Amino acid sequence: MKTFYVTTPIYYANSLPHLGHLYTMIVADTIARSKRQQGIETFFLTGTDEHGINIERAAQKNNRTPQEQADYVVNYFKKMTEAFGLDTAHGGYDIFMRTTEPFHSEGVSEVWRRVAKAKTPKGRDALYKGHYEGWFCAACAAYKTEDEYAKPTSEGEPPTCLIHETKLDRVSEESYFFRLSDYDEALLNLYESADFVRPESRRNEVKSFVAGGLQDLSVSRLHSSVSWGVPVPGDPNHTMYVWFDALTNYITAIGFGNEQQEKKVGFEKFWPALHMVGKDILRFHAVYWPAFLLAAGIEQPRAIVAHGMWVDPSGRKMSKTLGNTIELDVLNKFFPVDAIRYFCLREMVFGQDGRFGYENLIDRTNSDLASGLGNLSSRTLTMIQRYCNGRIPAGAITDENRLAAKRAGVEDETAIADVLGHARDEFIRYFDEFAFSRALEEAWAIVARVDKMISEATPWDLAKDPNQQQTLNAVLYRAAETLRWLGVMLYPVMPTAAREIHQQLGLTDDVGRIDARGLRWGDLKEGVQIQEVKPLFPRIDKAKTMEEIREQKSEVGEQKSEVRSQESEKQGSRPVEEGSGQHATEADAGAVGVANFIDIADFAKVELRVGEVRTAGRIPKADKLLLITVDIGEEKPRQILAGIAQYYEPESLVGRKIVVVANLKPRKLRGYESQGMLLAASVGEEGKPVIATFAEDVPNGARLK
Ligand code: MSP
Repeated sequence: MKTFYVTTPIYYANSLPHLGHLYTMIVADTIARSKRQQGIETFFLTGTDEHGINIERAAQKNNRTPQEQADYVVNYFKKMTEAFGLDTAHGGYDIFMRTTEPFHSEGVSEVWRRVAKAKTPKGRDALYKGHYEGWFCAACAAYKTEDEYAKPTSEGEPPTCLIHETKLDRVSEESYFFRLSDYDEALLNLYESADFVRPESRRNEVKSFVAGGLQDLSVSRLHSSVSWGVPVPGDPNHTMYVWFDALTNYITAIGFGNEQQEKKVGFEKFWPALHMVGKDILRFHAVYWPAFLLAAGIEQPRAIVAHGMWVDPSGRKMSKTLGNTIELDVLNKFFPVDAIRYFCLREMVFGQDGRFGYENLIDRTNSDLASGLGNLSSRTLTMIQRYCNGRIPAGAITDENRLAAKRAGVEDETAIADVLGHARDEFIRYFDEFAFSRALEEAWAIVARVDKMISEATPWDLAKDPNQQQTLNAVLYRAAETLRWLGVMLYPVMPTAAREIHQQLGLTDDVGRIDARGLRWGDLKEGVQIQEVKPLFPRIDKAKTMEEIREQKSEVGEQKSEVRSQESEKQGSRPVEEGSGQHATEADAGAVGVANFIDIADFAKVELRVGEVRTAGRIPKADKLLLITVDIGEEKPRQILAGIAQYYEPESLVGRKIVVVANLKPRKLRGYESQGMLLAASVGEEGKPVIATFAEDVPNGARLK
């Protein structure tokens, strides 16, 4: 039996996932589903990268052990993958890989031992001990060359990572080196195959990087500097470089170097894999990983496919500071999973960067899904219900009716079958080239064509004339058969909607196991009883939803993040938190040093005053907000909304002295005006608020300076 293996990157366990992570999982999941439809035994891996200084620091900051930190993030990842239908139970991934699994250490140690014994293509030892002297970015988990960092502005300061804008660590220690410099020709040979690194533009990028000359790579850190990782076999004073450890997960997960997974999955059975990655980590996958594999004598991956990054609607990189991140809990609350999947694949031209905004998502959902596919499905099925007693009608047109049917705009069966067959072939061709957006355009051209046929044939008029029954049936059969095809073609992208279409059509075979290549016009059987007609994609009220999203963001985000942004971000200790922006690593990167200072004049702009809580109560239907009134020495108490309802009982606040930002622009939340903000520390990964207060007696209204 044919097999197929697809992987996502394994995500750093230092911070919670966001849209970027979701996207790679959606793409890999779509590919896996398509292979499964073709009857190919498929293994789909996602997971977390849990070792290294990055995780160690995040753990420290959150008062956890590194293992607890990893467990916390994994827990959230699993909840998220379940909510988005990407987990095993929903037909998604087969393994949630974790590099802290003992079987992984076993496997990665075996790879190391092989590399340690290997000779390079130029006949030298692939691994040697040396001394590393240079700069390391914890967030990238990468050593930085001069063109990859910004020089410090003042003497004695470390340089800054160009990607994360955080201070680099100076490393000066004994290290094992991988002799990457000997692998340039071997790598360039690999890139000769056009399929190895995709798309073409990325392949060229990698080629010129390698052709420009490679430096040897430091692949260990002293245990005294980094202890959270896999020890180097035979030399426990060294910890393996986290990328050596992480990349190897792709083979240990299926059984390389360990019995447990070999028995469960089977390395020979599934390797080589297709690695789906963001372009940000292409070098690790297309240069380092193939070189490690060459040294270890292991077959190369099937392909390394790099996608672009999501940016905000105006083209800016997403970041928490700009407040333009896409939060998974907001997405999950307001949008159907299939709409998100469709949007991600339709909107991003694969390989290039894509713009993601809630408004665009709503527009596409309404136009392409509610008015497009959804409407085609519900109008077709409703008419079958109404005009054909709920049974799939016959599609054939006898000779005597042919002319009338043609005049009514009903396409000949062979003609429509040809059109559909061609569109299906194009769809598959684009899909196989990862040109998902083009593939979906093909599918929507079919939707438009059949919609047009229905509008021209006006079945509602045909239904008034019993002589036109055959023509009426023919229109509805064509529309229903097209829907069956669309269900099969679109299943990998929109599994729930596809199942729904087939179920409503009265079909019982699992659409997740039907190969689009085998679709034949006319296989939809006449007389099948259709099921209850339900809308596939209800329209989204844009104004209302945008308002609700804004409110939700202010409820959870504002109280948390405004407090945070003052007490943490400005001080360079950004908390490791959800929605951390473009790269998960950004959040943690902030821990490294002070990136931006503010002037005292900037601070003076913020009017902080002592306040005393007079009243506090809950707000109906807002389980996160409390409405409090606070005396800050003015004539009237201030009314303030605070996102602390899950952590404080209102009664416990009355009489308490707090700190209020008194000159914050008032804004309305849930119909109430909030005239300031209370200060609270944001504690732990979930950002639990702990209200700032005073140990001594202070008068209301006193200013904090
Ligand atoms: N742990 C490494 C990967 C090791 S794989 C052996 C890592 N982790 S990460 O948490 O930073 O995840 C990076 C990946 O997340 C990217 O390659 C990409 O797949 C995804 N994305 C992160 N931000 C993204 C966007 N803004 N847009 C699209 N994908 C993004 O790197």
